[in-house]
Amino acid sequence: MLKRISTLALAGLTAVTLAGCGGGGGGAGASGGGDGSITMGFSQVGAESGWRTANTKSVQESAKAAGITLKFSDAQQKQENQIKAIRSYIQQKVDVIAFSPVVESGWDTVLKEARNAKIPVILTDRAVDSKDTGLYKTFLGSDFVEEGRKAGKWLLEEYKSGTDPVNIVELQGTTGSAPANDRKAGFQEVIGGEAKFKIIASQTGDFTRAKGKEVMEAFLKAHPDIDVLYAHNDDMGLGAIEAIEGAGKVPGKDIKIITIDAVKDGMQALADGKINYIVECSPLLGPQLMDLAKKVVKGESVPARVVTEETTFTQEQAKAALPQRQY
Ligand code: AHR
Repeated sequence: MLKRISTLALAGLTAVTLAGCGGGGGGAGASGGGDGSITMGFSQVGAESGWRTANTKSVQESAKAAGITLKFSDAQQKQENQIKAIRSYIQQKVDVIAFSPVVESGWDTVLKEARNAKIPVILTDRAVDSKDTGLYKTFLGSDFVEEGRKAGKWLLEEYKSGTDPVNIVELQGTTGSAPANDRKAGFQEVIGGEAKFKIIASQTGDFTRAKGKEVMEAFLKAHPDIDVLYAHNDDMGLGAIEAIEGAGKVPGKDIKIITIDAVKDGMQALADGKINYIVECSPLLGPQLMDLAKKVVKGESVPARVVTEETTFTQEQAKAALPQRQY
């Protein structure tokens, strides 16, 4: 453990949590699963949202259950920290690297280093835009474009009988991240065909509650006529609700709200009538990730893309689902 800590510290990671979960710590690619143990280096985006916390828990618990030794690092939403973490995992000769890329671009160099070191890489949750798809073995995660489409379809249905303009403000996720790019694109694809829908303001809230509140306060000051808020995750929507209430308006009524994720706090706000619709994005990727890791370490073939199954929630559905909600 001491050796691991010093290696990571040398790599300059700003926030690193190590979880030695199960397994005999074969590491060094030496085991390659050969003695039955697998070491995975996992670089997480950060702890920016309820979704992310649930995702980290799922990865850590699933590694333990699968007998995989997990080296875990938190990049605090910074690409440079993820690159340092991946390089550190390469140096340590882990058997497999998994990571959730904070942004889509800029990964080719480090992924080539992993490939040269013969360490397979699995993308989880978020994609990269590398042209060379041979740089990673598989991508496990949601279809973010489809999530954006689902949000747009609800809006179309909600306003199907009216002809008045519908003024929408959008709280985008982290700039340059796959979910921000794709959720925007999917939503725009669906509402773009109807002239009455107007996105009057769109800005990043970095997937955090605090930033969601701050940006919504600015939107409310600049635009007294907001009909709809589309927030790329629950946390930003929840921050925005505070801003809307602070401005003396009623969330869910004066301003209709659509969010993505369906974490417990979001579902509670939906059940309470403060959010109108949530598109689910599941953070429970851990079990599938560990299965894929075992296969790629053994050299077995895996699908290039594994899409997470997800649903949507109305206010009534949220009331029914809340008691069993895991996260
Ligand atoms: O990549 C998934 C997104 O990242 C979630 O929707 C958001 O809450 C998180 O921060």
